[in-house]
Amino acid sequence: MEERIIQSEAEAAEHSFEQSLRPLELRHYIGQDKVKENLKVFIEAARMRQETLDHVLLYGPPGLGKTTLAAIIANEMGVNIRTTSGPAIERPGDLAAVLTALEPGDVLFIDEIHRLPRAVEEVLYPAMEDFCLDIVIGKGPQARSVRLDLPPFTLVGATTRAGSLSAPLRDRFGVLSRLEYYNEEQLKSIVSRTADILQTNLNETAALEIARRSRGTPRIANRLLRRVRDFAQVKGTGDITLELASHSLELMQVDRLGLDHIDHKLLMGIIEKFRGGPVGVETIAASIGEEATTIEDVYEPYLLQIGFLQRTPRGRMATMAAYQHFGLERPQP
Ligand code: ADE
Repeated sequence: MEERIIQSEAEAAEHSFEQSLRPLELRHYIGQDKVKENLKVFIEAARMRQETLDHVLLYGPPGLGKTTLAAIIANEMGVNIRTTSGPAIERPGDLAAVLTALEPGDVLFIDEIHRLPRAVEEVLYPAMEDFCLDIVIGKGPQARSVRLDLPPFTLVGATTRAGSLSAPLRDRFGVLSRLEYYNEEQLKSIVSRTADILQTNLNETAALEIARRSRGTPRIANRLLRRVRDFAQVKGTGDITLELASHSLELMQVDRLGLDHIDHKLLMGIIEKFRGGPVGVETIAASIGEEATTIEDVYEPYLLQIGFLQRTPRGRMATMAAYQHFGLERPQP
């Protein structure tokens, strides 16, 4: 039962390769300088006082390194990390099972924390605040509440939607850190580091090309690197040159700005079916066969960031820059 709440074996295997590429120390983590500087101080202070680190909320778009940072926090504090996620914890009892299995000082990492059911959240409040668990035993008039002490722990929560977190939950985090998209230089360093670990020759210009097409996101950069490496192995000499990288990325339908076929479908959908908008996200989602939440959490943030999409009270609009990217004229209003 606990295995299921924590992580399935298949999921663990899928993530293990990616994890082997992740830095384990703050000094090896590239980018997010403000977040790193602050965490370094808070970790050092907690260690000096021999206390657990205050609870940390990491928020921002997917793939920017929230899970990696959680693992680094545990490692730098010299404690174990237990990993679970909002949707995996369905009932208060599930959370109680996870909390009572913690060792003193452990990091409990809850990914997608905004998806915790409300009844579970309520059990989490006293656990975060006083390290105790209020459980109700029995039913009806016989029911009574028992208070259980928990070992002190650090909750690290991650979310793509800080706005969806309830205020009482958000207020119980002592450290709130927002992760930003990475710039090209940082992504170039990240793929170069990964290529070293994978013992692959990646030249500077190729690293920059992959970085440019990674939508500011290390997870995408490392995924593109692995696919380009496949092309290099099968179609080339194994070394990754600029020409090979560009050609492979074209074949994978990743364009000059890193937009893939779903970004294209989304923008072209707004342009062709709704004259550039405004159009509601649910309507776009239905018209291109994607989930509205996937559009909002995964695709939209980067398109907003590069100014291809605008959010207005009446819905989403494709901008002039988006029309230009596709070589199209914007219709007159
Ligand atoms: N791999 C993925 N994200 C990283 C980061 N921010 N720094 C170093 N390596 C990474």
